[in-house]
Amino acid sequence: MTQLQNDLFLRACRREVIERTPIWIMRQAGRYLPEYRAVRKNSDFLTMCKTPELASEVTIQPIDLIGVDAAILFSDILVIPEAMGMELLMVESKGPQFPKPIRNADDAKALKQIDPTKDLKYVLDAIKMTKENLNNRVPLIGFSGSPWTLLTYMVEGGGSKTFSKVKNLIFNDPELAHNLLDKISDAVADYLNAKIEAGVNAVQIFDTWGGILAPHHFYEFSLNYVEKIISKLKVTDQPVIFFPKGISSGWNKIAKTGATVIGLDWTVNIGKVRERIGDKVALQGNMDPTILYGNVDKIEIEATKVMDSYGNGSGHIFNLGHGILPDVKPAHAKALVDFIKSKSSKYHIK
Ligand code: CP3
Repeated sequence: MTQLQNDLFLRACRREVIERTPIWIMRQAGRYLPEYRAVRKNSDFLTMCKTPELASEVTIQPIDLIGVDAAILFSDILVIPEAMGMELLMVESKGPQFPKPIRNADDAKALKQIDPTKDLKYVLDAIKMTKENLNNRVPLIGFSGSPWTLLTYMVEGGGSKTFSKVKNLIFNDPELAHNLLDKISDAVADYLNAKIEAGVNAVQIFDTWGGILAPHHFYEFSLNYVEKIISKLKVTDQPVIFFPKGISSGWNKIAKTGATVIGLDWTVNIGKVRERIGDKVALQGNMDPTILYGNVDKIEIEATKVMDSYGNGSGHIFNLGHGILPDVKPAHAKALVDFIKSKSSKYHIK
């Protein structure tokens, strides 16, 4: 493979000695950018995901405009349930909706096994085109939802405040829940392997809803499956990032999943988590995304707190603790990136 011009992100994932801390931003290809909205004005969201030219264009926008150290392929976690046969609607101002959610064993049986090279070929085409267009400037990250997070959407039919339907399922019919999680895990593993084969340099598993479970249920219904998926990944040197949002304990178990990097949200102290598992995994995060509403001075103060908390040495990938919000000023995202690039070298002096 041709050498990447900027591989700081990959080296930090492997906890190698580097010159400065790399940064990328979850949801960096998105609505806070006027340039994204200009593309989005002419196409609906799923059409953008399914058109490699458009997906590639908006994937690369934050590299050019914000200067981040890695690209993340523009797509969505919900393309897997759609490929398994569920109708997916992206409803303006309501978010994603499955009009016919999974409610019983028959619904579960109707889900088909996917062949990513056919059913999600458009994602693989988008990866190949994006790799070409990136021209080895920065690494490209591919991603998936965790089986648990995908199951919540498939059972609830969309977002939820109480998650009552999926909780009903796991507590009243755990066998069906585990069958579904197994089936989804197979799809996720095949999908991530196809992405790796298509050329992504790293993969991230988003467990956005891991934190709605009590710790023992998180291990049973989420972490177990993530561990199984990671064990099936045909990685050569591609780092695997696991982002369990809303989790505040069980770090040793989480570090044992086989992930190279653990993503942290902003409710935990990154330095304390490093003390627990920093010798086993790299850490990604974890500034509160709403800090970007503050002025540039505030952003710099808070970004410094995150870097101070992690401390000296490699193994830190700067990121927000969750996705950038649509009403953040792009100039503030750029100011954060510029600050990390110019002020993080002092944490890497040997
Ligand atoms: O990070 C990136 O820039 C890559 C693109 C990306 C999107 N979705 C694009 C998107 C990624 C990594 C995702 C992951 C995703 N999608 C997650 C996990 C990460 C997280 O934020 O917790 C989840 C839970 C989803 C499901 C989803 N997709 C929701 C809840 C929504 C609606 C809410 C929202 O943010 O709009 C989407 C739609 C979506 N996915 C948009 C984008 C840019 C907005 C669509 C639009 O332009 O109208």
